[in-house]
Amino acid sequence: MSDVGLLPKVELHLHLEGAAPPEFIRQLAGEQGVALNGVFNADGSYAWTSFAEFLQTYHRACEVLKGPEEFRRLAEAVLAKSAADGVIYTEIFIAPDICGQGDPVAWREYLAALNEGAENARAAHGIEARYISTAIRNLGPEAAERAALLSAETMNGMLTGFGMGGEERFLSAVDFTRAFAIAREAGLGITSHAGEICGPESVEQTLDHLKPHRIGHGVRAIEDPELVRRLADEGIVLEVNPGSNISLNVFPDWPDHSIEALRRAGVKVTVSTDDPPYFHTDMPREYRMLAHTFGWEADDFADVNRIAMEAAFCDEATSTRMLEKLKD
Ligand code: ADE
Ligand code: ZN
Repeated sequence: MSDVGLLPKVELHLHLEGAAPPEFIRQLAGEQGVALNGVFNADGSYAWTSFAEFLQTYHRACEVLKGPEEFRRLAEAVLAKSAADGVIYTEIFIAPDICGQGDPVAWREYLAALNEGAENARAAHGIEARYISTAIRNLGPEAAERAALLSAETMNGMLTGFGMGGEERFLSAVDFTRAFAIAREAGLGITSHAGEICGPESVEQTLDHLKPHRIGHGVRAIEDPELVRRLADEGIVLEVNPGSNISLNVFPDWPDHSIEALRRAGVKVTVSTDDPPYFHTDMPREYRMLAHTFGWEADDFADVNRIAMEAAFCDEATSTRMLEKLKD
């Protein structure tokens, strides 16, 4: 059988800082004379052993992403890698609380640099990108509301979505109702991490209160058949990151992952990588593992990519163009 790793791909769930290759972070640390003790293993990979530690290492590595120029370089490097992996359209999470520590003036400077990075990548590699601005859950509802306001004020052709990541065990979705209402009313596409570290109740509360178009992960919904039916009935799209889930021990191994059962139950699933170097993965590996584990073939990946593109937070013309490209 031909190599599914070579197929064209749509990715909807990728954290910009989480996609930074360890060498990229080490290079910046070297340039800045910063030690970054404890961030790397002896073999050079990112060091973490649990979800909490993963988040900690992630934010420590961000210390050297000091300004807009570092983010422009990062966006170009990440998009070059995605394009090389066959990704034709991607949505990337960024965060006002990382890009400028929530300062509105700084955020606009970061955003300009990020847009420049995406435009350079489009010119060099033909890859199309959109940004999803995110709140960091463990910073609390007030920070989330500030992030939502800032995102609403700065949404443009490239910043088209609002989401939330971070520590899922912190507070409940209902506490973030106001932030998501601000973003939704501004016309941003809405997604939130849920059902990754916490169970079905987290997905349910997210659906009830944050009213998202998509859910980041959502894979633990499988523990509640009624919720699975609801996801299917309401056409909620899941941004599934199988390699990330296995790496973080949400499921013990690939055959245990819920993506296949969700899909068979009629839930709209898509495939992404989350934070690829942290989880030792990339899009071709995800595709190859899905083919190997569940027997997915080119038609299955075509379905998943069509679902992703139809749920993308972009204008109709771009979506139509990408859907055409997928058919080629
Ligand atoms: N931030 C970066 N990756 C994340 C993940 N997998 N879950 C929650 N927050 C994140
Ligand atoms: Zn994520």
